[in-house]
Amino acid sequence: MLGALVIGCAQPQPPDAAFTAPTLRGAFEGAFLVGAALNAAQFSDQDTLGAAIVKAQFNSITPENVLKWAAIHPRPGTYDFAAGDRYVAFGERNGMFIVGHNLVWHNQTPRWVFEDSTGTPVNRDTLLARLRDHIRTVVGRYRGRIKGWDVVNEALDDDGTLRRTPWLTILGEDYLATAFRFAHEADPDAELYYNDYALENAPKRRGAVELVRRLEDQGVPITAVGLQNHDRLDWPSPAQEDSTIDAFARLGVRVMITELDVDVLPPARAPGANPFVDRLPDSLQQALARRYAELFASYLRHRGTVTRVTFWGVTDRDSWLNNWPVRGRTNYPLLFGRDGRPKAAFAAVVRTAPAHERRDEGRDD
Ligand code: G3I
Repeated sequence: MLGALVIGCAQPQPPDAAFTAPTLRGAFEGAFLVGAALNAAQFSDQDTLGAAIVKAQFNSITPENVLKWAAIHPRPGTYDFAAGDRYVAFGERNGMFIVGHNLVWHNQTPRWVFEDSTGTPVNRDTLLARLRDHIRTVVGRYRGRIKGWDVVNEALDDDGTLRRTPWLTILGEDYLATAFRFAHEADPDAELYYNDYALENAPKRRGAVELVRRLEDQGVPITAVGLQNHDRLDWPSPAQEDSTIDAFARLGVRVMITELDVDVLPPARAPGANPFVDRLPDSLQQALARRYAELFASYLRHRGTVTRVTFWGVTDRDSWLNNWPVRGRTNYPLLFGRDGRPKAAFAAVVRTAPAHERRDEGRDD
């Protein structure tokens, strides 16, 4: 049945199909929010096509880069809120559930955070004071407006142990609990998330389950676990996705799919690693559609636990996967093509939705 569905929707969509029903946010209304990560061009309305797709299709937004430490707090005592303010204003103008990404990470955090003026690592008290100042200032500025924060991002290694970052080596294992407490102090009503990738793999998932259990035992206010879902055509399996969501549901936290995309390119850096410069072959376009349909079927099996599904980008043109793990490739990981048109995968996703089925009932067309 899925095969027929995908072949049936492989026709090119008209250009305005990105702005007419069915839409993603309409299709999944009552099941979960559907979001996208935005770059500055989109929330500043410079990328008019991208901004229009966001307004039509999504009801939640996440900032791809502008709230990260390096962007918003580049130097000691210097905060730059210009882009963050525009991001939040865009979300409010368009009635979006606004997410903050992120407060504590080992990436996109300036070296000065961990060092004194001579380049020597700072002590625990100094780093704690910097962390508290950062979280109070940033979360405090958007208090009541940013509704949920990725408080700690990617703190685990593949084997499920805590990643050896400067946060861990200088502050010790309780830095995660501390960050959540600072965030809760700064906005007691904000939802607070632990966000990571590849938690579908058993060792890392076990580590994350332990981590969440420890936080809960310590009375830390954690709302949800973010499963990034930077996926491939053959990973993770629907069974892995199901059991991962179930594992966190058993702990009583919600689950959010926070950075969804599906990489269709070969992983190698070898010559020939950029095979689809002009277009994605139909067979792969359809494989991507089937893949997205099976992922959404898994998310829908867990409605009630999964409360948001956010794509990491709007159109294929914007995706970080055009530059990782190899710079300058042409990837096709999202639901909207470079021209803004919905791809076969868009229709396949919408067809998984209960609201879409209801809307189709009694229609002649
Ligand atoms: O801002 C500089 C700019 O000044 C410079 O001219 C340009 C030249 O390369 O680089 C710009 O910085 C880039 C930055 O994005 C802002 O656009 C960095 O090179 C680039 O590496 C950075 O990539 C971001 C990446 O996080 C950094 O790790 C991606 O856009 C962003 O999509 C990606 O997002 C992460 C999530 O936050 C966490 N989970 C994984 C996800 C994908 O890596």
